[in-house]
Amino acid sequence: MTENLEFPREALIRGEWRALPRRFPVVFPATGEVVAEVADCGIREAEEALEVAVAAQRTWAQATAYERAQVLRRWYELILAHEEALARLMALEMGKPLKEGRAEVRYAAGFVEWYAEEAKRVYGETLPSQFPHKRLLVRYEPVGPVYGITPWNFPAAMVTRKAAPALAAGCSFVLKPAEESPLTALYLARLFLEAGGPPGVFQVLPTSDPEALSRPFLEDERIRKLTFTGSTPVGLRLYQEAAKTLKRVSLELGGGAPVLIFADADLERAVAETLRAKFRNIGQSCVAANWLFVEEPIAEAFAQLYAERVRALRVGNPLEEETDIGPLVNEAALRKVEAHVEDALARGASLVVGGKAQGLFFAPTVLLGVKPGSRIFQEETFGPVAPILTFRDEAEAISRANAFPVGLAAYVFTRDLSRAFRVAEALEYGIVGVNDGVPSTPQAPFGGVKRSGLGREGGRWGLEEYLEVKFISVGGI
Ligand code: SIN
Repeated sequence: MTENLEFPREALIRGEWRALPRRFPVVFPATGEVVAEVADCGIREAEEALEVAVAAQRTWAQATAYERAQVLRRWYELILAHEEALARLMALEMGKPLKEGRAEVRYAAGFVEWYAEEAKRVYGETLPSQFPHKRLLVRYEPVGPVYGITPWNFPAAMVTRKAAPALAAGCSFVLKPAEESPLTALYLARLFLEAGGPPGVFQVLPTSDPEALSRPFLEDERIRKLTFTGSTPVGLRLYQEAAKTLKRVSLELGGGAPVLIFADADLERAVAETLRAKFRNIGQSCVAANWLFVEEPIAEAFAQLYAERVRALRVGNPLEEETDIGPLVNEAALRKVEAHVEDALARGASLVVGGKAQGLFFAPTVLLGVKPGSRIFQEETFGPVAPILTFRDEAEAISRANAFPVGLAAYVFTRDLSRAFRVAEALEYGIVGVNDGVPSTPQAPFGGVKRSGLGREGGRWGLEEYLEVKFISVGGI
């Protein structure tokens, strides 16, 4: 399974690979086989890495923007050169199909490239003064050492989307990757060292006990920023903890995206893009389409064509080239998907296609006639299930989409330009894809409102999250 694939399994602390006697298994979800036993960091490693990060911060912040940019540029090139290995690692540790893994590697590298360029464009400002003897300057400085917690669903891109802007800004970064997918993070860290990244600037601490490992970072005043992608309940807890030391926070939390498909939409395009929005990464994405609302006159035609395309998706081993849908990441993920489908059917929904599990594989599923009280309406499914619902008019579509407590991404399909703007502006979401099922891209802001989080990643907004503003007033001139 891992033949010809050489990858680190130890923690990266102080620029050294730290072999620890405590290990935890990383499992291939397609078969249950153990891919690797990984170093299991605890409080001692956390405390050491914290001290190293604080010290490394000073020197990294003093490196010139050009020096930091050069390291990032080399990191970007190395990530691209290792596309195949990274894609295979992701397939092995969390079940992402190979072709999607390759696309993710390019997406992940895109953040590093973007911030390598932006590192050199952190310009200060001068302000006009009302006094002739004063000069007023604004500088942007790194916020300080950062603690980052990344999820398993995008093991490469979520690391680079956080670490690249932090490193570009001059921050040191300690990463705790998800227990399910530490191997991609460690591989990226190895490439960072190969790119000339100084020891201690980027450290990676895999652990099977995230709460214990995180405590020292959350409690220490010297860690100035927490960045997290994961569930809303965990995000809320971290927010409270980080508040005690007034850290800056970025929280990219739960999604669950509504899709509004109007009768004037290009049907083929709406089906193709909604397929991507729903089934990318086996439905395990924060911006995954969770609810498909279709305007009544085209609901039947849409459902028919959609079901046809869903039937054609190939479920299989993520290491095989043709696979579209791999396994879910673990038992808990499978149980949630099954529970959502069972509950919807028990309340009177009808099954158009799919609905069955085998091992951790869940067949891509389409449901019709889901009743409002169903669980699938209250929670993010995070799996390959598409409930198709109907609406009568624009006002109803907007009000149903805005009734959800989350606000990360929403999608609109229409050929009417005025409607596209009207609806996009009315939606209470951080990201709106208009006739576009995958709007995420490194140069654009990614993040949500309401229970979907705080702050933005990507583009110049992602860099600002790691910068402090300093005002210098010079008098006596
Ligand atoms: C996520 O699921 O959090 C990331 C998805 C994306 O970047 O498109």
